[in-house]
Amino acid sequence: MKIFALGGSSSIGRAAIRVLLDAGHEVCATYNSRVSDGLDRATWVRADVRSTADLDALVRPAEGADVLLLLPGLSPGQTLAAYDDDQIADVVDVNFSGQFRAIQRIAPVMADGSHIIILGSQAGQRGSSDPLYGATKGAMHALAKSLAKSLTPRTRVNVVAPGMVTGTAMHDETSEAVLDIHRKTTPTGHFISATDLAHVLLDIMQPHWCQLNGACIDINGGMYIR
Ligand SMILES: NC(=O)c1ccc[n+]([C@@H]2O[C@H](COP(=O)([O-])OP(=O)(O)OC[C@H]3O[C@@H](n4cnc5c(N)ncnc54)[C@H](OP(=O)(O)O)[C@@H]3O)[C@@H](O)[C@H]2O)c1
Repeated sequence: MKIFALGGSSSIGRAAIRVLLDAGHEVCATYNSRVSDGLDRATWVRADVRSTADLDALVRPAEGADVLLLLPGLSPGQTLAAYDDDQIADVVDVNFSGQFRAIQRIAPVMADGSHIIILGSQAGQRGSSDPLYGATKGAMHALAKSLAKSLTPRTRVNVVAPGMVTGTAMHDETSEAVLDIHRKTTPTGHFISATDLAHVLLDIMQPHWCQLNGACIDINGGMYIR
């Protein structure tokens, strides 16, 4: 398979690329500011999803992709009152509009029978203490449902919505007190690692998952059943 990973430089993206390359797949990935060392077997393209020129330039490398993985995400951890206008624009652009515009350009050049997988979040399902992060993730979840109708049968669209993921910047930047609250509301009592999540992503790319469309797969240790 050819996988195009938008935001491949993210913590989850790097874990996914490693797993996908090890499984023998071809990966083309984007970064914005961080060049990802040690993943030279992938092809890397620089793309700021706020830039029209960068988005336009993705069409060529994404041509023929079987899977588009959407990973960019900003989570400033602000309250409603603390957000300033520039920060609001950035979070909306990176978490939603930039990815919408990327799908607009890339979906038409993907292979027949292709699959778009969006990295959503439990914050998109239940809200978040950062209201804009939660709202933008929720917007991506709703977008997946809409596109799952309009892009089929050529392309299916699904969301994978994890709770806290270890081995990521977001996890490492969260205070122990907040992590403890997350653990207490997670029935399994622990979080998924970026590498295990990467294996979940690889799993749902397999052909026998071909009826998965418009779904949101919650990977959060049963958080919603409490
Ligand atoms: N980590 C978690 O616990 C967790 C839980 C639930 C959901 N998620 C979701 O999973 C996805 C990946 O999360 P992560 O924790 O692995 O992310 P991360 O390590 O914080 O990386 C953020 C990504 O966003 C990219 N980005 C930021 N500004 C950008 C811009 N202007 N244009 C293009 N890309 C830009 C970054 O690119 P550069 O680094 O190259 O600048 C990087 O690839 C996100 O959508 C996040 O919401 C994460």
